[in-house]
Amino acid sequence: MNAGEGEPLPKEMSMSIREITIDQLDAQQFIEDQVRSICATVGDGLAINALSGGVDSSAVTMLGHKALGDRLKTYFVDNALMRQGEPEAIVALFAELGVHVELLDAREEFLQALAGVTDPEEKREAVTQTFYRDVFGRLVKQSGAKHLLQGTILTDVDETVAGIKRQHNVFEQLGIDPQQAFGYNIIEPLIQLRKDGVRRVAEALGLPESIHNRMPFPGPALAARVIGEATAERLEIARQANAITEEELCDTGAFQYMAILHEDRVTGMRDGERDFGLQIEVRCWESVDARTATPTRLPWDQLERLSARLLAQVPGVVSVTYNIAPKPPSTMEVV
Ligand code: XMP
Repeated sequence: MNAGEGEPLPKEMSMSIREITIDQLDAQQFIEDQVRSICATVGDGLAINALSGGVDSSAVTMLGHKALGDRLKTYFVDNALMRQGEPEAIVALFAELGVHVELLDAREEFLQALAGVTDPEEKREAVTQTFYRDVFGRLVKQSGAKHLLQGTILTDVDETVAGIKRQHNVFEQLGIDPQQAFGYNIIEPLIQLRKDGVRRVAEALGLPESIHNRMPFPGPALAARVIGEATAERLEIARQANAITEEELCDTGAFQYMAILHEDRVTGMRDGERDFGLQIEVRCWESVDARTATPTRLPWDQLERLSARLLAQVPGVVSVTYNIAPKPPSTMEVV
């Protein structure tokens, strides 16, 4: 069952995972323990993992390579939902760290799966199924790997189990057996940590600050920032708006900032003519662990600069709003 479809699942499912808080975490010890555990589980077999460039999947990639070397195959799946220039930048960065990452172009497959899908949970499910069952299922079969390493963290499990949002990478806690559903075993070395713990581990693994201090980015990527259907054209609008928003707000020190493309069009005017145009919503969050968050009190000048760029540089945009609702009752992403 999907968390979004029915009743919240029993709390015991996430409570059975023992949390390691930031105060309890000894990063070096944690790395040693996880490397040993990955080695024990995989034995002399093969494992596979997907790197998105976020801190979670980056930390898992480094842990996996420490444990397995070449017996871990790492893929960056271009799902058409990534930020501007992201696939090439991440592959290049890991090459510098000595980790070979295979870039896989799966854009058409994801766009087809998302065609006509407007419901938020169905969108998340479409991304999940295309990724785990179709693209990854195929890769695993081709590679002969029996294990998939993945960067699920405790917050993903909590929110999925509570029925708030179906995080795309949570299965077992939903009663889904990945072995049965997808044909492989999932290893989750970060499942006891929250974001702050993962950042500390990532730093201890030698990942650069641009990664260990990286702003979170959701699994369903830009599909989580487009309300309604995520077509190639609408994703491109969201991509451009997010790139501008990241440039303009990077000095805020905020936990996370983003641009969202709304589904409704609104009346505007351009060059003296009525223009039924697009609306972009900007969100900028203060948070420690993403469980609760409050909007950053951005200076008006900064908001005006951002709005001017979005209006001038993203085709068709006639309205820019700033979200001032905290989480809860809002969530940080819009889908
Ligand atoms: P929400 O929108 O649930 O977001 O308040 C909380 C934090 O989680 C990120 N997020 C995700 N991360 N897979 C992820 O790995 C997901 O499906 C997902 N959905 C949201 C979001 O960007 C924020 O930092």
